[in-house]
Amino acid sequence: MKKLSIIALVASVMVMSACGPEDPGLKDAYKNYFKIGVAVTPRNVTDSLQKAVILKEFNSITAENCMKPGEIHPQPGVWNFAQADAIANFCRENGIKMRGHCLVWHSQFANWMFNKYDENGNQVVERDENGDTIWVEQPARGGFGGFGGFGGFGGFGGPRPQGAPQGAPQAGQRPQGQRPQGQGQRAQAPAPQMTKVPKYAKATKEEFYDSLRAHIQVVVNRYKDVVYCWDVVNEAMSDANNPDAPYEQSFRQSTAYQLCGDEFILKAFQFAHEADPNATLFYNDYSAWTPAKRTYIYNMVKKLQAEGAPITGIGMQGHYNIYDNPTIEDFEKAIQMYLELVDDIQITEFDVRINHEAGGQLQFSRGEGQVLTDTIAELQKKKYEELFTVIRKYKKNFSCVTFWNLGDRDSWLGANNFPLLFDGNYQRKEVYYTVRDFKKKK
Ligand code: GLA
Repeated sequence: MKKLSIIALVASVMVMSACGPEDPGLKDAYKNYFKIGVAVTPRNVTDSLQKAVILKEFNSITAENCMKPGEIHPQPGVWNFAQADAIANFCRENGIKMRGHCLVWHSQFANWMFNKYDENGNQVVERDENGDTIWVEQPARGGFGGFGGFGGFGGFGGPRPQGAPQGAPQAGQRPQGQRPQGQGQRAQAPAPQMTKVPKYAKATKEEFYDSLRAHIQVVVNRYKDVVYCWDVVNEAMSDANNPDAPYEQSFRQSTAYQLCGDEFILKAFQFAHEADPNATLFYNDYSAWTPAKRTYIYNMVKKLQAEGAPITGIGMQGHYNIYDNPTIEDFEKAIQMYLELVDDIQITEFDVRINHEAGGQLQFSRGEGQVLTDTIAELQKKKYEELFTVIRKYKKNFSCVTFWNLGDRDSWLGANNFPLLFDGNYQRKEVYYTVRDFKKKK
């Protein structure tokens, strides 16, 4: 009898392990830690293989581009909901929650908000003392008319159709988030043809806030049933690599900053909180581990929280490399600093490329000719392992770790930077197992 019950026990254990979680997804491996997220395009959620990978592995989703203001609200009164709805509906159908990304950013922004409009919705033109239109010269933009307000106000990249000529980037400005066309390095643009356009009047700070508040109300309300947190402000801090920079110099000189100072951050958080009091509201930035930027972020968040900004989370984007970015000590130090201010931290845009570039630098290569040798693959595993070890240590305060794109072929960095856990065919790479099977180690 005793012998029989031992045999039965062994048999049932064998069956249980055959039916059990032999091959967990990332989200299962981390279920007692934090959510594992992924940034997707609408294509990722319609292709059957990619869909299956998402459903198996992830339990948080970010729309890579289509919820950004310049994409979803490119002109006053013009809304492009289709792509964001497709992703949100996929999440609704499958019971997955989303990170909302993003409400204010210097890039891919609804730059029309910086222009002045009359009561009929027409842009206001500046006039001289005789009432005549004032004209200014600006580079002709082939086939890109629409709202003339792109020139003359800080010039940060606004909603830019694919293939439209790119204006000269400002120091520290990111690539447009959209995959660069062809090579990552920007080609020297030929001297632009000039054209005369009316000088358009600029919005006052209050007018900008009115537009921003209305935008935030619409977007946050539309997706609040499925979005659990928002990147309210993205990348507002400067790339000046000086931890001792005075407070004013710690900000990116964006159009919003030039118009409003740091108050635009406070307002954006207040508007988002008003629209969804239940969402966690993140400040999100790249290089958030460096001594300079973590100091800028720390000082800004502390000051604005004291002024009433409901900043409840800090997003460290990621965009790391296999070498020196980030250093693990600095990465952990940044987490400790942020935990003095918020309870919730996320890695929001995780990727680890195989060359020496990283973060938000303007010039980056798409890795043409790079090969994932065994040595490089080992370095990448080591980096992912070191970073995840620290993140797991702070699991109480990490609510999610999001990979920036599904497979290497989707990456904004190009497939030859091999930055992700899935290859160009959405198959698990060896580094996938380093991240998933952390319990088996040691
Ligand atoms: C930034 C943005 C993201 C994305 C990446 C590049 O980090 O926050 O939305 O555009 O750049 O793809």
